[in-house]
Amino acid sequence: MADVYESLLNNNLGRSLLNSLNLPVPTVLERHNQAQTSFVSGNVLVGAAPGGRMSEVILATLKQSNAIAQVAQNASAIDEIKQAADKAGTKLATVDANAEGAKFKALVFDATGIETSEQTRELYNFFHPVIRKLADCARVIVIGTPPESCKSPRAQIAQRSLEGFVRSVGKEIGKKGAIANLVYVAKQAEKHAESALRFFLSPKSAFVDAQVLRVGKGKALPESFNWNLPLQGKFALVTGASRGIGESIAQVLARDGAHVVCLDVPQAKDGLQAVADRIGGSVLALDITDAAAPAAIAEHFKKNHGGIDIVVHNAGVTRDKTLGGMPEHFWDMVININLASEERINDALIDQEVLREGGRIVCVSSMSGIAGNFGQSNYAVSKAGVIGMVDAFAPILAKKDVTINAVAPGFIETQMTAAIPFATREAGRRLNSLKQGGQPVDVAETIAFYSSPASSGVTGNTVRVCGQNLLGA
Ligand SMILES: NC(=O)c1ccc[n+]([C@@H]2O[C@H](COP(=O)([O-])OP(=O)(O)OC[C@H]3O[C@@H](n4cnc5c(N)ncnc54)[C@H](O)[C@@H]3O)[C@@H](O)[C@H]2O)c1
Repeated sequence: MADVYESLLNNNLGRSLLNSLNLPVPTVLERHNQAQTSFVSGNVLVGAAPGGRMSEVILATLKQSNAIAQVAQNASAIDEIKQAADKAGTKLATVDANAEGAKFKALVFDATGIETSEQTRELYNFFHPVIRKLADCARVIVIGTPPESCKSPRAQIAQRSLEGFVRSVGKEIGKKGAIANLVYVAKQAEKHAESALRFFLSPKSAFVDAQVLRVGKGKALPESFNWNLPLQGKFALVTGASRGIGESIAQVLARDGAHVVCLDVPQAKDGLQAVADRIGGSVLALDITDAAAPAAIAEHFKKNHGGIDIVVHNAGVTRDKTLGGMPEHFWDMVININLASEERINDALIDQEVLREGGRIVCVSSMSGIAGNFGQSNYAVSKAGVIGMVDAFAPILAKKDVTINAVAPGFIETQMTAAIPFATREAGRRLNSLKQGGQPVDVAETIAFYSSPASSGVTGNTVRVCGQNLLGA
């Protein structure tokens, strides 16, 4: 019984049957593979509200890909967009977006010029004619100005309203495996939005849907920066790396050029060693809750690598019970592993100056930390605390050009979720806009995006990797 649904989805006859029963038939999501030479290919339609400030960066980013940048012949702000293309030194095709058979791999709209609620009409004008012309696994990206930074209340209101747009569009296009996201780019941080644009345009963001990411000012990248090997020369720690999401994070960071120190409990040493061998990394077998662990980690990196560049707090456990029936050791264990030990490790790495300037801390929260979950009061406290840790430390660490961000996974296909009873698991898996569970690699790709030197303007964010799960959305 367990995977009847999955097996029906895996053959055409089964999919037709599910379709005829009006049951969810998800689109197979495109994911990154090494053979891909471009982060996005196909037609990308760009648009802007008059007075926007992002067109040049959008077009300069698209210039680095195989995509065909297009503008609709009747687009508002068409002259501004054409000028931006000239400045970016890129080709821009003027097209009839209404033409029969037109298909778009991405729709990218610069909404930074919207300053009143009446001007939100620009969203309708751009998206209405083309929203039904998306290719499978297409991307919708709206770029705005952080509402809190707007000078007038009316502009703040208008910018805040973009969130409702993206969240609704995500729900309308999810059946095709397409996603919609909003990127708020601070003024004068325009150039630092490139890594976010690349990420959201690419298959690496396959399961990141209806999210709001904030980009602020960051550091300029060196001329020699290699987008295909962004973590070259970096040393990373991944906790809980022997299996599941942690294993995938280690693999993806290594793929991107980092040397990864894989950490897990001593009992998991064999699996851990196998992961480290596969990715050319090394092993640190210890329990992160041991009183000596933070100093041991700091010492390991100081001695072997002269410091640390990327810290990924992934290790985590659940001990579910409704509050009235929860033994105290369930509470203590979950808080200690999922939150308190992370704080102690951060303290050691920061206080002893092992974490290098320009470093990255990435934490793994959970949808439970946002929405709460029945029988998970301990887990939800720990995972909401992780979000608190990001909020509290982002401004403190910014002084050293260190960023701290979190991912909050929804339903991800791992041993943890395979153990959930069938009916609950099916519900968890399908109750999102993409009608499927995510893969560990979806979490890992988001972490790699945060970890990149190109993401220096990205700090203080918690991004859900949940396919726009209905819980807490
Ligand atoms: N799988 C999901 O759907 C999902 C959803 C939301 C959040 N998460 C979070 O993602 C992270 C990884 O989850 P997963 O599904 O891969 O779980 P998993 O159980 O497969 O892996 C967790 C790893 O952490 C290690 N670990 C546990 N306690 C440790 C300790 N004290 N010291 C060192 N290592 C320790 C375990 O040995 C294990 O290898 C966790 O933080 C989890 O809470 C997972």
